[in-house]
Amino acid sequence: MEAKNMIPKTLLVGLAVIAIAYLYGILVEDPKSYLDEIEKSIIDAWSEYITLPKKRFQRVAVGINCNLDLIVPALPLFEALHVKPGGKENHPRLDSLQSFQETFHHFFSKGSAAERAFTNGSIFKEIVEAAESLKEKQYYIGGNAALMASKIKFLFPDVELQLVGPIGPKLSELFSQNIQVPEESHIEEDEVHLIMEYRVGETWGDSTATVATRFITSFDESNSKMSHLETFFSSLLGFEPDLIIISGLHLMEGEGKEFYTGRMKVFRDGLNKLDPTIPVHLELASMANGDLVQEVFREIIPEISSLGLNEQELSFSSHVLKGPHSDDFVHLTGQPEIHKISDMILWILKTFGYSKERPESKLTRVHFHSLTYHILGTIPDAWSNNEAAVAAGTHTAGRQACDVKHLTPEQVELRIPATFTLYSGGPEKQLDHKHPVIFWDYEGYHFVFSPVLVCRDPQKTVGLGDAISATGLMYSQYNRGNLR
Ligand SMILES: *[C@@H]1O[C@H](CO)[C@@H](O)[C@H](O)[C@H]1NC(C)=O
Repeated sequence: MEAKNMIPKTLLVGLAVIAIAYLYGILVEDPKSYLDEIEKSIIDAWSEYITLPKKRFQRVAVGINCNLDLIVPALPLFEALHVKPGGKENHPRLDSLQSFQETFHHFFSKGSAAERAFTNGSIFKEIVEAAESLKEKQYYIGGNAALMASKIKFLFPDVELQLVGPIGPKLSELFSQNIQVPEESHIEEDEVHLIMEYRVGETWGDSTATVATRFITSFDESNSKMSHLETFFSSLLGFEPDLIIISGLHLMEGEGKEFYTGRMKVFRDGLNKLDPTIPVHLELASMANGDLVQEVFREIIPEISSLGLNEQELSFSSHVLKGPHSDDFVHLTGQPEIHKISDMILWILKTFGYSKERPESKLTRVHFHSLTYHILGTIPDAWSNNEAAVAAGTHTAGRQACDVKHLTPEQVELRIPATFTLYSGGPEKQLDHKHPVIFWDYEGYHFVFSPVLVCRDPQKTVGLGDAISATGLMYSQYNRGNLR
């Protein structure tokens, strides 16, 4: 017996040596060239999926949150304000230079990014003036609505675009000439979001930054009160859009239940009066108030056609509304599992979306985006060109994060698991790099998945979700007339 086994064993060892030598050649000596092949074939495959729909959106109305991002180095700002390091304390809201200093110091010493609103406008104004006096400063377009509008204009210069929101003089200068801003949108002073950056190794008092990150603060009454909501709806009449994109609901979080319930009613009534053949997309953004999220889902979601959101927003929504995998939110770390995300998208469509049993709901599309992959779920009769939309969205994610026009394999990497399932109980899958856009039909809904090629050295991560959602929409075609 032993003698008989000797031959195949020797053969096996021999083959294994050859195989290892071969793998060594491609993986160890030059692991990147092998991996780059995967990325290259995904980039090439995407371009085959990305085709424009037969009927493109031509007139797009966007609102409502707009602001001016002012980026400055954090420590020189405190110097200009004559504020010394002092103690550390995490204040939920900022009302003085002292609470500002203590809260910043708290996060600086921990090395974590944070955002805190000011409750005192005159002190915030003083801080912004000090920031503007610094030599090193940069102004950028900020706010989901403003970012989506400028992305669409960049991708499709021929599209007629109207933007409504609080737009001050500096922000106005940053927009392309061809974005229409109605007169009522202009405000006298920009709503500034102050982004204070610091680098690894910078020291302040007894603390040293262990990572490079940022502290953000603002006193943004226009956006937190959605002061342009009425203007937004009234401006739609003269413009006659064929696509409406809205964001900014999340900014009302700090305003108290009575306030946001009242604004939500105005929002809902405005949506309810719109022509139902015009699709309305709502882009969510980070929310921590479970009650506000519940109101958004119960009151607003059935009044919109399309919803865009990321893993934090999706899993938090499922958590507060007792959807699938609702406890995962509590211990969410790293990237969410693919099948769980698609379960949650299905749940939103089934629970809040259009169906024969719920014909009054307009919701027919959910576009999920995360760092490593995107999934789109639709009612198939209502939306077409969905594969192109997802491919265009994932393609945009890598390009915008790397801040390049064309992706090259060396700049990016695939970060989805080697095997995954597309929905709970589904078969195990592996990505075919030549066909990275996967689509399937499940319980009457159409789903599309594509991985993202994640930028290795990201340059621009602000507004990534906005760019993805705006791109996906512009590659989609709405066929509401097909619904019966
Ligand atoms: C804001 O702070 C200033 C300076 O401390 C103070 O005089 C003013 O009363 C504060 N305003 C509000 C609304 O608290």
